[in-house]
Amino acid sequence: MYCAIVAEVDKRLEDPLVGFFIQNLSHNLLLEQNGEKIRVTGYLSPRLPVQEKKHRLAQYLSQLKTANPRFLPGRAFVRYEKEFNWVAQFKKNFRPRQVAPGWWVAAPWNKGKHKNEIVIEPKMAFGTGEHATTQLCCQAALGLVRPGMKVLDFGTGSGILAILTTKLGASNVLGIDNDSLAIDNARENLDLNKVSSKVKLSMDSIEALPDERYDLIFANLMLSQIKEFFPRFKKALKKDGLLVASGILTYQLPELGRFLKEKKAGLIAFGRDCDWAALVIAP
Ligand SMILES: C[S@@+](CC[C@H](N)C(=O)[O-])C[C@H]1O[C@@H](n2cnc3c(N)ncnc32)[C@H](O)[C@@H]1O
Repeated sequence: MYCAIVAEVDKRLEDPLVGFFIQNLSHNLLLEQNGEKIRVTGYLSPRLPVQEKKHRLAQYLSQLKTANPRFLPGRAFVRYEKEFNWVAQFKKNFRPRQVAPGWWVAAPWNKGKHKNEIVIEPKMAFGTGEHATTQLCCQAALGLVRPGMKVLDFGTGSGILAILTTKLGASNVLGIDNDSLAIDNARENLDLNKVSSKVKLSMDSIEALPDERYDLIFANLMLSQIKEFFPRFKKALKKDGLLVASGILTYQLPELGRFLKEKKAGLIAFGRDCDWAALVIAP
């Protein structure tokens, strides 16, 4: 039995709602547009405190409604499903998509249409290229990766950034994730892209960061994690190394700005896509 937690809101509220799901409920999302409304379905294990999560979602929808009184009202509900059909539904809608200028993500069954491709078998792991936070990292990678670089992809998900950085010339990449499903999917995707020899994967978290120095670290996480892991990332970077921090909602930028000022970190570049932002930081 699987649990689907669903919210329907005015489609202009898609970005903040997706952000709320990813940061609080689930990153296994299905997005469907229905006229003026967007329906977001997040899949999670029924072993989690589902009713408490639904309650938080309902509270969030009422905050959204208060802040946007002229938008259509939203609703939230929970559905239980015998068959877990998220992947099947997602696959049905999966088309090659451009994640950065000239770079496309395709699935194994629709690959070969573009010169620069990352092939991803869409499964439960985050990183199929449809999300702005991933795309902002891909765009940053295009400007930052140089041949021979050593890269840490912290929270690798599907391995998409590890694959892209390798294809851009990085010679030594480490992908870390604490979700075994992500690591399994990343391994499969490294093989599909023939980059397994250049990327090492590790199912771990920040405590297991090796005592090595990287030119670049990608961290598409949550603001709270970026702040918490910042000292470890700083230690793991070479003298001129850079941190690409993504997964930041634009309303969180003042908080991140204060944090970076306190840490005397430099801001090298900034990217934004709707309500999401990514920063290139010199810690
Ligand atoms: C938003 S996804 C990013 C995936 C991919 N890098 C991308 O940019 O599309 C974040 C990933 O970080 C992983 N993650 C979250 N917290 C983590 C932690 N403390 N240690 C390791 N991995 C973590 C999650 O399992 C998830 O796969």
